Amino acid sequence: MIDIKQIKEFVKENLDELNYMHTKKVVKIALALAEKEGANKEIVEIAAWLHDIGKSDKDNTLIGHHSLGVKIAEDLLKKKGTNPELIKEICHIIETHMGPPTGKFLLSELKKAGRRFDFPRPDTKESKIVYDADMIDLCSPLGIAKIIHLRTKYGKDFLDSIESAKDTAFAAYNDLQTKSGKELGERYFKVSKEFFEIIEGK
Ligand SMILES: [Fe+2]
Ligand SMILES: [Fe+2]
Repeated sequence: MIDIKQIKEFVKENLDELNYMHTKKVVKIALALAEKEGANKEIVEIAAWLHDIGKSDKDNTLIGHHSLGVKIAEDLLKKKGTNPELIKEICHIIETHMGPPTGKFLLSELKKAGRRFDFPRPDTKESKIVYDADMIDLCSPLGIAKIIHLRTKYGKDFLDSIESAKDTAFAAYNDLQTKSGKELGERYFKVSKEFFEIIEGK
């Protein structure tokens, strides 16, 4: 049995405020989906807490944070004496959480690095749930605010940032994997869609 409190403390100490806030939302959504989908809640909760731990390294890139996250999580869980099978399942979830695969921003970052979207995809109930929770937060009002903030912070024009947030939110919503994820995602995304419609004067 892993002490969730210790994992949470580790994540809080290592992530910046924005990523910690996002992680807390992902954990909450992932647990709600795990309940509905009858998934292993312990695995889902630990993986959700650790899914973006690769972002604790400020020099790491967006396209590298999932593989760095696997290394950090593996080290941490080994130190805590976690069952190797459990570590494998948790790391698989972290490894497969990269998305959305059609998001223009992600694709342009990959292109800069001379790559295509070649990440392993979520293929277990638990990995699909954490993936969905991450995508739901991304297409929610908080996710949109986060994208606009980050794009403008790194020099993008304000209107371009809104366009980029819209593209990412639609791509994230369209890539939801589970039935419960699609149902919950629709609720969050509805507000986001209205937000863009109002901005565009529709
Ligand atoms: Fe991530
Ligand atoms: Fe995330």
